[in-house]
Amino acid sequence: MPLDIIIGAQWGDEGKGRMVDVLAANASIVARFNGGDNAGHTVTVGDDIFKLHLIPSGVIHAHTIGVMGNGMVINPVKLIEEMEQLRAAGVEINPDRLKISYAAHMITPAHHALDIAQEMVRGAERIGTTGRGIGPAYTDKVDRGGLRMEEILTPNDFVERLGDHLENTNRRLVEIYGADQLDVSGILQAYVEYGRILAPYITDVSALLTDALKRGERVVAEGAQGTLLDLDHGTYPYVTSSSPTAPGALLGLGLGLGYEGEIIGVTKSFQTRVGEGPFPTELAGEVADQLRGTGEQPWDEFGTTTRRPRRVGWLDTVLLRYAVRVNGFTAMALTKLDILTGIDPLRIAVAYRVADRTYENLPSGPKDLAPFEPVFDDLEGWEVDVSSIRTWSDLPGAAKQYIQSVEKYCGVKIRWVSVGPERNQIIKIE
Ligand code: GDP
Ligand code: IMO
Ligand code: MG
Repeated sequence: MPLDIIIGAQWGDEGKGRMVDVLAANASIVARFNGGDNAGHTVTVGDDIFKLHLIPSGVIHAHTIGVMGNGMVINPVKLIEEMEQLRAAGVEINPDRLKISYAAHMITPAHHALDIAQEMVRGAERIGTTGRGIGPAYTDKVDRGGLRMEEILTPNDFVERLGDHLENTNRRLVEIYGADQLDVSGILQAYVEYGRILAPYITDVSALLTDALKRGERVVAEGAQGTLLDLDHGTYPYVTSSSPTAPGALLGLGLGLGYEGEIIGVTKSFQTRVGEGPFPTELAGEVADQLRGTGEQPWDEFGTTTRRPRRVGWLDTVLLRYAVRVNGFTAMALTKLDILTGIDPLRIAVAYRVADRTYENLPSGPKDLAPFEPVFDDLEGWEVDVSSIRTWSDLPGAAKQYIQSVEKYCGVKIRWVSVGPERNQIIKIE
């Protein structure tokens, strides 16, 4: 009964979609367990580049079922758009292939408007959210006033509840934030139609997944965001509002403890972050420009969802060790090794220093990182283009050294090294 859990080990955009696509080749179900359309997961197959925000990346394979868990917040408009885009690209999307948890929460235009208004009010203290209504939707969930996907199954009650929610938010938008009112009747009309389209997809995801695991099928749990964006364990308050760490997979899919399988931390070969918040190894200048790219290549470091340029820096193994601790990774995948070609030396942060004291591990969680100076291990770079290499033995010595150093500092085996975005640009290490 293998359940493989794929987790972002940094601040998101580590290449989770790319790794889910690799692992889904041997799975029957791929299940997203957290977040909403703040995520952007890219899968490259030949000339096709799929950018998935809500639908699990595994559906690109024809043999898989995609599941959207109760831990997600779903914007129906975006979901329907994404279904259409996938269909246009030749991916079959129907209620046999895509399942939505009845207990997932719904994002409405009210959440969207609140997200934007709240960020405006935060001013210099803004989080740098994706503006997709994520925080306000999870706030309503925790406050027990949220709208769950199951409500679309009873349209009359749904219209009443959605109407109340929109009217309430209109009062908040106008009175607290001085923002524009929402068009309640227009939204109600549209949401009834979305409900009609999505109703056949609503399922008991917990039961479906548990039965599949009992039958011995392989399930891949797909995390969105990353460990350092976790509401509890991330760089609070510069975090998202869900649980992208490994236990969030069980919580967000309705699964119990004790399944066999790997907990796979996906880390880039360097560090990136989009939005505000601390970043001890952040770089500016020539190396930063090389790591980020110009935006010409599809994999350059510009947000999949918002196109914001990502902040970039050296790989930080102090934070990676923290990710190993809170997730319990049993294996890791290292992506974008190809991007490091030509940079010499390559630096890896291995400890933090503050006022003559050196810390190998975070002394008190990742909230207040500003006082820390990273301590670096400098490694030799390489000049060879590694993007066409497919075996460990063909990698240049310096690249092997880099990978082994990351393993040594993290204490976890790197089982996959990605050298390009394409499905086959992967080195599997036994
Ligand atoms: P996710 O949110 O974790 O799924 O990651 P994103 O899709 O937001 O960002 C990763 C980007 O890097 C995408 O454009 C991927 O196609 C690309 N990518 C993934 N692995 C590699 C790799 O090994 N090399 C290169 N050059 N690009 C990669
Ligand atoms: P994937 O799944 C990178 C960041 C936002 C912001 C913070 C809060 O593609 O890795 P939110 O809209 O969630 O309230 O924003 O979290 N963020 C991401 N950064 N990758 C993501 O997803 C992200 N999802 C949210 O930039 O800093
Ligand atoms: Mg992304």
